[in-house]
Amino acid sequence: MQVLTMAAEAADGTKSENYTMMQAQLAALFAGERDALANTANFAAFIFERLPDLNWVGFYFLRDRELVLGPFQGKVACVRIALGRGVCGTAAATRQIVVVPDVHEFPGHIACDAASRSEIVVPLLRDDRLIGVLDLDSPRPARFDADDATGLQSLTDLLLAMSDFDTLVR
Ligand code: SME
Repeated sequence: MQVLTMAAEAADGTKSENYTMMQAQLAALFAGERDALANTANFAAFIFERLPDLNWVGFYFLRDRELVLGPFQGKVACVRIALGRGVCGTAAATRQIVVVPDVHEFPGHIACDAASRSEIVVPLLRDDRLIGVLDLDSPRPARFDADDATGLQSLTDLLLAMSDFDTLVR
């Protein structure tokens, strides 16, 4: 499966071209549906299938000033993360994308799957309001770079524009 998706990515062109294509496919997937639970569930499944070398991808949503686990693909994960804790809590608190080439070097990293070696977390912001974070883990060291940060930001911007999060975030 991973070999097949890697070949697909290489055949499709550069990483950023692949993200542009994924953006169009996600827009088609979300068309006519604004339910954030449904769209984030499909988003996680789509990313897990389309990007190579991932062992976990999913969401944490801000609920009562804490991050709470949302739809994901991968092994079972910790349910609640305080703002400022771990990679997810850091991205949420700073409202910045956090790229971690080696999770063992990140102070306070929360290990949900021992296979994870690198990680990227993208905060979800709408109108300056924190909605939650998107978290991707890889068993490959330094799996994520600036192209992934830009590409994933464009995909989450699309998700935020095409979904209503009011019932998920409080
Ligand atoms: N590693 C994350 C915790 C979530 S899991 O990776 C699914 C962190 O340090 O915040």
